[in-house]
Order: sequence, then C-alpha cells, then structure tokens
Amino acid sequence: EDTYKIRASLLEWYDKNQRDLPWRTSTKKSENGENVQEEEEEKRAYGVWVSEVMLQQTRVQTVIDYYNRWMLKWPTLQHLSQASLEEVNEMWAGLGYYRRARFLLEGAKMIVAEGIEFPNTVSALRKVPGIGDYTAGAIASIAFKQVVPVVDGNVVRVLARLKAISANPKDKTTVKSFWKLAAQLVDPSRPGDLNQSLMELGATLCTPLNPNCTSCPVSSQCRALHNSRNDELVMVTDY
Ligand code: ADE
Repeated sequence: EDTYKIRASLLEWYDKNQRDLPWRTSTKKSENGENVQEEEEEKRAYGVWVSEVMLQQTRVQTVIDYYNRWMLKWPTLQHLSQASLEEVNEMWAGLGYYRRARFLLEGAKMIVAEGIEFPNTVSALRKVPGIGDYTAGAIASIAFKQVVPVVDGNVVRVLARLKAISANPKDKTTVKSFWKLAAQLVDPSRPGDLNQSLMELGATLCTPLNPNCTSCPVSSQCRALHNSRNDELVMVTDY
C-alpha cells in the first residue's frame, strides 16, 4: 500500500538527512531500567516543548542560540518553575510574542506545583497553559512516542502536494482534513520521527517556491508532481 511505502521512504530519508539540532537528543532506550527512562523522557519532553514553542514564529537558525542559552539557565522544568517573569522575558528578548514565554513559565509552575509527572498524552498536554494541538502533538509523539499526528504549515504543504489537494487552508474543515491525513500517515513505531520528517521535508525540499523534487524521497508517490502541479499548491503555505 501507498502509506507503507511513503512512511518507509520518509523515515529512511530522515535518518540520513535530518538536521543536527540541539533538541534532537537520542531516543535510544536506556539500559538502566524504568526510572531512568522516565526521567529521560521528561527531560526530552521539556526540551521539545521549549524548542517547539520557540519555533512557532521563528526560524530554526535563530532558535538554536536561544534554545541553548535557555537550557543552560533552566536545564529542567523544575529550574524553570523557579524563574521570574522578568528573567524569562529577558531571555526571550528578540524572539517576539512574549506571551509564549509567559505560557512556558506558567505551564512549568503548574506542572511542578501539582507535583505531577510531565503530561504525556495529547489531552493531558492540552490542559497546560499555551499548549495547543500542534505543541501537544509534537511533545506527545516526539518525546513520549504516542502515535499522534502533528500539523503545521510545512506539513500542510507537503501533504497537499503529496495528495494533490487544493483547498482553502483558512477553512476549518480543510485544517481538520489535514490532521486526519496526517493521522493516517503517522508511523506506529516511530511517530515522532515520521512527524519530524514531514516538517523537515517541508522546510528543506518541499519549499513553497521551487520545490526540489529531484531530491525528494517521496517524489514517485507525489500526485502533485505526477500532475505537474508541484509548483502550484503553494497557496496552502498561508495556513
Ligand atoms: N519545525 C518546527 N518543529 C520542527 C521539528 N521538530 N523538526 C523540524 N522542523 C520543525
């Protein structure tokens, strides 16, 4: 089936071509037992959370420095929960949309105050201040290996081309249909990597203009390319 082929091609491409980013720490299984693994998962979840929030309005190249500085100052959720809003805003200076920084702080305080473990499902994550569908899906799939989709502007464009869908991206039902498509595609054994492969493909090859179809791992399954419409279907980047 098409889905299996697309998954396999995306994952193989991602393994070879993913950018080396500081929040992409190894997800290798720990040999030292359950507790260590849980701890590592929580640490990874915190890093994924911070990075995904930073990436929401800011380019990857800019985020890397901010992310590294943030993690030096507040290496864990517990550290962050002790910070003041002034410190957090100062650290955020230049990234814009300061509400995002405040939500990170409020979320950290909430999780730590309730003495709970880091929320690890989409519905639990959605209850944290500032965590919406996108961030919840990213944390759940990348850090906790939940088989859930993630849809951002890059993913919409990649899927629109792959399936040759031209629909108004501003339309609520359109957005819903892309979440459904992404849910069908997400890989049951490597959900976080599959989700990130779609984002990565959109950021590096399946770009809004002049997509690099000759290097694309799923070009043979791409309906837009097949119909010579790969240059079209860029409207969806407005999403
Ligand atoms: N853009 C936002 N989040 C990303 C991620 N996890 N991987 C690649 N690109 C992204």
